[in-house]
Amino acid sequence: MASESITLPRPDDWHLHLRDGAMLQAVAPHAAAVFSRAIIMPNLQPPVTTAEQAAAYRQRILAALPQGTTFEPLMTLYLTDNTPPAEIERAAASGFIHAVKLYPAGATTHSDAGVTDLLLCYDTLAAMEEQGVPLLIHGEQTGPEVDIFHREAAFIDDVLQPLLDRHPRLRVVLEHVTTALGAELVTGDDPRLAGTFTPQHLLYNRNDLLVGGIRPHYYCMPILKRESDREALLEAATSGHPRVFLGTDSAPHPQGAKESACGCAGCYTAPVALGLYAEAFEAAGALEHLPDFASRNGPAFYGLPVNREMITLERECEPVPAHYTAGDQPLVPLRAGESVAWRIRQPHPA
Ligand code: NCD
Ligand code: ZN
Repeated sequence: MASESITLPRPDDWHLHLRDGAMLQAVAPHAAAVFSRAIIMPNLQPPVTTAEQAAAYRQRILAALPQGTTFEPLMTLYLTDNTPPAEIERAAASGFIHAVKLYPAGATTHSDAGVTDLLLCYDTLAAMEEQGVPLLIHGEQTGPEVDIFHREAAFIDDVLQPLLDRHPRLRVVLEHVTTALGAELVTGDDPRLAGTFTPQHLLYNRNDLLVGGIRPHYYCMPILKRESDREALLEAATSGHPRVFLGTDSAPHPQGAKESACGCAGCYTAPVALGLYAEAFEAAGALEHLPDFASRNGPAFYGLPVNREMITLERECEPVPAHYTAGDQPLVPLRAGESVAWRIRQPHPA
């Protein structure tokens, strides 16, 4: 008989966008209801490039949490062409900054301040090797000549491999892996390299985005790929490999910014993500690997303890609202108006 419930340490999200202002107020409680900690993306406008800015953003996140919630934002810095090595030292000394994020300039939402050439960052990356600060990578090669479906593969060949050769002690997370090539790389035997996987890339392919009408809520960067890629991602994520872990890339945009002639990239998944991952692992016949993926492999890579609180997921249909509200704007989640097959069992009232 199929499994009806699974108990695991409370998971963490190793790639989360919380934004700022009214959006932060709306989405922080959703993430905190599911996850214990999250790596917080620094692509605000302007980006979070200094330890001082990260400290202030961390306080705004903590202030947006409902009373009594415990949720630890694990902060990151946004790497630019000009990030000085001294900023890495300040970050490493802060105790609350856990990584530095590379957005190739122009790759995705709010990436204009991103890196134009990694050679400009040589000394800063050397400081990260020295301090043991991981580099989180949005792995897409940009430029008008690079096909949007080929950007991850081009990045791996042209940028990532040379980077790993230049910086032999640099620890790297290839985030939101979307191709068979990326999946093969992160499940290899290089202990410096880990990968995160989103629920949408494990469950959907580009047909879901484009066949029978364009579905803007499935549009994210890196874009959904072909079915053979999805199958390779599912196999990698559910394989039990120690360096693959959960990173939702939950990326909220107001409904009007998604359903537009020039719609923003990003799927809002925080409230539904855990159930979606359970669906994917169940479909792969690998639910027994969900606890490592969701709760243990991430902390092991980051040198943090596994959460002690346990939660239980049960195979019960959970309806997903048509939208949430952020300020005065609707916010449409993935699966809006449909349902998710797994939900978190709520503790019985005492
Ligand atoms: C993210 C966002 O909206 O900030 N969008 C996305 O499609 N994933 C940026 C990112 O992580 O690429
Ligand atoms: Zn992201």
